[in-house]
Amino acid sequence: MQTVAIEPRYDAWRARARSLLVAAVPPDSVLWEDGERGNASLFEDIESDALPAASGKPPRIPRAFMELAELVSCHRTDEKWGLLYRVAWRLTHGDERQLMQVRVDADVRKLEGWAAAVRRDRHKMKAFVRFRKVGEASANRREQFVAWFEPEHAIVELTAPFFAKRFANMDWSILTPLQCAHWDGATLRFTEGVPRAEAPQEDALEEYWRSYYAHIFNPARLKLDAMQSEMPKKYWKNLPEAPLIAELTSKAANRVATMVEAPTSRRAHVSARLPAGVPPTESPVSVLAPVDALQCGEDLSWEVLRTSARHCQACPLHERATQTVLGTGPEDAEIMLVGEQPGDAEDLAGAPFVGSAGALLDGALTDIGLDRDALYITNTVKHFKWRRERKRRLHQTPTAQEVHVCRPWVLAEIMKVRPRVLICLGATAAKALIHPKFAMAQQRGPCPDCQLAERVWATWHPAYFLRMPGGQARDRQLALWKADLTNAIA
Ligand code: URA
Repeated sequence: MQTVAIEPRYDAWRARARSLLVAAVPPDSVLWEDGERGNASLFEDIESDALPAASGKPPRIPRAFMELAELVSCHRTDEKWGLLYRVAWRLTHGDERQLMQVRVDADVRKLEGWAAAVRRDRHKMKAFVRFRKVGEASANRREQFVAWFEPEHAIVELTAPFFAKRFANMDWSILTPLQCAHWDGATLRFTEGVPRAEAPQEDALEEYWRSYYAHIFNPARLKLDAMQSEMPKKYWKNLPEAPLIAELTSKAANRVATMVEAPTSRRAHVSARLPAGVPPTESPVSVLAPVDALQCGEDLSWEVLRTSARHCQACPLHERATQTVLGTGPEDAEIMLVGEQPGDAEDLAGAPFVGSAGALLDGALTDIGLDRDALYITNTVKHFKWRRERKRRLHQTPTAQEVHVCRPWVLAEIMKVRPRVLICLGATAAKALIHPKFAMAQQRGPCPDCQLAERVWATWHPAYFLRMPGGQARDRQLALWKADLTNAIA
C-alpha cells in the first residue's frame, strides 16, 4: 500500500491518477491523502519518491468521467479521491469503458450524488452571494466590493469565473471560510479562507437593498417552508435583507387579512377569472394569474403554482382544452426538457410527452442512457391548441401572443426546479426561452448567453422526426439529435 498525498484539488489528483494508471497501480494499493492547499512543491517531492516509475501512453479516459471528476473533487468527503481513482481504474483497466452509462452501478451513483451536491452548492453561491461596497473609486482604483459566503464544499475556484464574468466591471473579493476569490478586472486570484469576522458587516448598499426588498415583499406570497427549503436558514444570516424577514413575516398574517378584506383591483381581477365551479371560499391567495405567480419568484410554492396553473384562463386556449398540463418529474431535477404544448394524448392524460412524440423521445433517452424519471419534462404552453378534422383533434401551433401569455408558467417551473441543464425541444420553446428570433436551422446547439440555467441547449422537437419520411436522411438527423441531447447533459 502506498500513500499518495496531494494538494486537494482536481488537477493535482488528475496528474497523480494518470501516473498511477500508467504504472498500472491498482486502486486497493493506494491510500489517498489530502494535504494543504497552495503547497504544491512539497507534494511534488513526496509524490515523486512514492510513485513507481511511470512509462507508456496515458490511458484514455472518457470526457464525461473527467467532467464529473472535476465536480466531485470539490466535495468535502475524504473518500472522493479513492473512489475517483477506482472508477478511473475500472474505466481504463477493468474493461468497463461504458461504466459511466451504468447509472445503477454503486460507484457511479455515489459519484453522481456527490456531483449533484456540488452543483447545488454552486447554484446557491450564485444565488446568495451579496456584495457590499467597501471602497470608493479613486484615480487608480475602481469601486471595491466584498461578499461573505459559507459554501458546503470547496467550490470557490470553480464558481469564481461566473462572478468574474457577471461582475467584470468592479473589483471584488468573495470571502469564505474555505478559500477566498479576488477579482481586479483582469485576474482572478485565490487565497486561504478567512473567519467570518473579516467580512464587512454593514454599509450603505445594504440599506438600499433592504428598502428594495421591503418594497417588493408581498405577505400573501409568504411560504416559510418553501423559503427555507429553497434558501436554507444557513444563508439568511449573510443576506442584507435577512433582518427584515422576521419583522415582515410577523406582520404578514395581518397584511394578508387586510388584503383579503379590501381586495385590490388586481386581486378582484384574478378572482373574477376563476372558472365556474371553483368555490369562492377557496383561499383567495391560492390562485394567481401567470404574471403574478412569476413575480413571487422563489417563494412561490409548488402548491400555488399548480393550483394557479390549473385554473389559468389568461388566454382563450383553456376553453377548448381538457385541462392544464404542467410539467412532471422530480422537483429538483438536474435536467429539464421543454417542449411546445400538450398534444391530444397529453391533454387527456394531463402529463407531457405521453403520446407519439413522447414515445420517440423516450426511445432517444433510452438510447443515450438517460432515465426519463430523473428529468423534469414540461411544455412552453400549457393548454392543447387544436382544430377538428373529422373525428380527430389536430395540433395547431400556438401564436406568439398565446406563448407570451403562458410563458410565466414555464419560467416559474424553471425557477422552482433550477435545473443545471435546460433543453428546449423545438422552436416554440427556444423562442420563448432563448430569443424571440431564434432560428433552429442556424442556432441549434448550446446557447451560452441564456442565463436560465448553467447549460442551455436548443435542438429539434421529437415531432419533427415523426413528420420526416424514413430513410438515411432521417437516420442521420436522428443521430445528430441524440448527439445534441448527449452533449447538452455533459
Ligand atoms: N409535443 C409537445 O411539445 N409536448 C408534448 O407534451 C407532446 C407533444
